[in-house]
Amino acid sequence: MIYPILTAEEAAEYVKHGMNVGVSGFTAPGSPKVVPPAVAAKARSEHEAGREFKINIFSGASTSDYLDGELARANAVNYRTPYQSSGDLRKSINIGEIHYNDRHLSELTQEFRYGYYGKMDIAIVEAQSITDDGEIVLGTGVGNAPTWLQVADKVIIELNDQIPESIHGLHDIYIPLDPPVRREIPIYHAHDRAGKPTAHVDPKKVLGVVKTSMPLGKNDPFTPVDDTTRRIGENVCEFLINEMKQGRIPKSFLPIQSGVGNIANAVLDALENSTEIPAFEMYTEVVQDSVLKLLESGRCTFASTCSMTFSHDAMMEFFAKPELHDHILMRPAEISNNPEVVRRIGVISMNTAIEADLFGNINSSHVGGTRLMNGIGGSGDFTRNAYTSIFLCPSIKKDDCISTIVPMVAHVDHTVHSVDIIVTDQGVADLRFKDPVQCAEEIIENCAHPVYRPLLREYLKMCKKGGHILMDPDHALAFHAALNREGDMRKARFE
Ligand code: COA
Repeated sequence: MIYPILTAEEAAEYVKHGMNVGVSGFTAPGSPKVVPPAVAAKARSEHEAGREFKINIFSGASTSDYLDGELARANAVNYRTPYQSSGDLRKSINIGEIHYNDRHLSELTQEFRYGYYGKMDIAIVEAQSITDDGEIVLGTGVGNAPTWLQVADKVIIELNDQIPESIHGLHDIYIPLDPPVRREIPIYHAHDRAGKPTAHVDPKKVLGVVKTSMPLGKNDPFTPVDDTTRRIGENVCEFLINEMKQGRIPKSFLPIQSGVGNIANAVLDALENSTEIPAFEMYTEVVQDSVLKLLESGRCTFASTCSMTFSHDAMMEFFAKPELHDHILMRPAEISNNPEVVRRIGVISMNTAIEADLFGNINSSHVGGTRLMNGIGGSGDFTRNAYTSIFLCPSIKKDDCISTIVPMVAHVDHTVHSVDIIVTDQGVADLRFKDPVQCAEEIIENCAHPVYRPLLREYLKMCKKGGHILMDPDHALAFHAALNREGDMRKARFE
C-alpha cells in the first residue's frame, strides 16, 4: 500500500481549529470510530493550553457516540449538519453552544458541491479497502462519503478489518452531475444499479490510513413491539390492503420507505405477517433488524438503502448468508433519498411524527416547538415526493399527559400539502380529497385518543367563526401551554 500508516492520534493532528470536516457513514454504520475520539482528546488538550479548538462537522446523518458524543463532550463542535441523534450533542445544541443546521439529507452533498458551505478541509472515511489508485470499498453505511472524497482537500481513511470482504459489490456509488448538465438518475426500480461498487479518491489527497478493528453493529437494543405499536402496524396494513382493493395501489404493490425506530420496526413486523400484501421491495434510507427478517422470509425481495443499521448479531447473520447479498444495495444519501427517484418509482413513505395537528401539519423534529429531538432527517425527502405519504405516532404519551394530536403543531416540518395519511393506535385518518375542516374532523374521530377528543372538538367548535382553515390565535397552542404549565395537556381550557 502506498499510503502512510498513521495512529489515530497522528491522524487527529491534521485536524485543525475551524476546519470543515466531512465524515462517512449514516447512523453508526460506516462512520469513523477511532480518529474522532482522538480529535476529541486533542481538543481537550488544546482547551487546557488556553487555545480555541472547534470544528464544523458534515455527516450523512446521525453517527455514533465515538463521533458526535465524544466531540460534543469535548466541546469540540462549532457547527453540525444535517442530522444527529446524540444525547450529548442535542444538549449542547439546545443550549445554543453548537450551531446546528437541520437539512434534508438528500440535499447536503449537492449544496456542498454548489459552494454553499465553502471548502471541505478534510474527510474522515471508514472503509473496507483502498487500492493504490484510489478505489475504495466503503463500510456498512455510505452516507455522503463519495462526495466528501471528491470535494475534500485531504482525506484520512479508517480501514476497519471487521468489515468482511464479502461487502464488495453491496455498494452502488453514483454522484449526479450538477445543473445545468444533470441528467436523469438511471433508477427505474428499487433494485436497479446506477453506479459502481467503489467510491473514488485522488490518491494524492490521502494523508494516510488508520488501521482499526471496531465492531460494526449498533449497540442500543430495540424496544420490543408493544400493544400500541402493534396496533399502529396493524392499522397501516389494513389501510394498505384496502388501498389495493380500491385499485389505488397496484396489485404488484409499490416500494416501501420506512423510517427509524421502534414504530417503524413494529410496522415492518406487521408487514411480515400480512400475507394479503404481496412480497415487496424497499427504497429507504436505513434497514434495521426487522428488514433482515423480511429479506430472510422473502417478504421483502430487495432493499435499496444508505446504511445497514443492524444490531451486531443481525450484522453477523447477514454476512454469514451470502444468498441475501443479491437483495440489498447501499447508495449515497443523495440517491437513497433522491426526490426524483422516489417520485418516479412510487414510494409509499412511512415516518414517525412527534405530533400532528388537526389540519395535517407534522412536527418531526422539535419537542414543544423549541427543543430539537433529532432533526427532519430523510422524512422530507420521502414525504414530499411519495406516491402515498403516511405519518405514524402513538395517540398519547407519558401516561395520557401528552396528546400527539394537537390543535396546532408547535413547529412544522411537513405541511398538510405533503401529508396523505395519519395513523395512530386509534386508527387511520385519510386526508386526501378533504378540506381543512373535514381533515380536522377525520383526525379527531379516527386518530386522537378518546381522552382528548372532547377537548379537540371544543377547540374546533370555538374556532368555527369563519375562514378556510380554522384557528384561534389565543388558544391554538393551549395544549402545549398546559403541558409547560401543569405537565398535562388535559388541563388545556378553551374559554
Ligand atoms: N410532546 C412532547 N414531548 C414529546 C412528544 C410530544 N408530542 N413526542 C415525543 N416527545 C418526547 C418523548 O416523551 C421523548 O422524551 P424523553 O426522551 O424525555 O422520554 C422524546 O420526545 C422522544 O420521543 P420517543 O417517543 O422516544 O421518540 P421515537 O423514538 O418514537 O422517535 C421521532 C420519534 C419523531 C423523534 C423520530 O422518529 C425522529 O427523529 N424522526 C425524524 C427523522 C425521521 O423521520 N427520519 C426517518 C426518515 S427515513
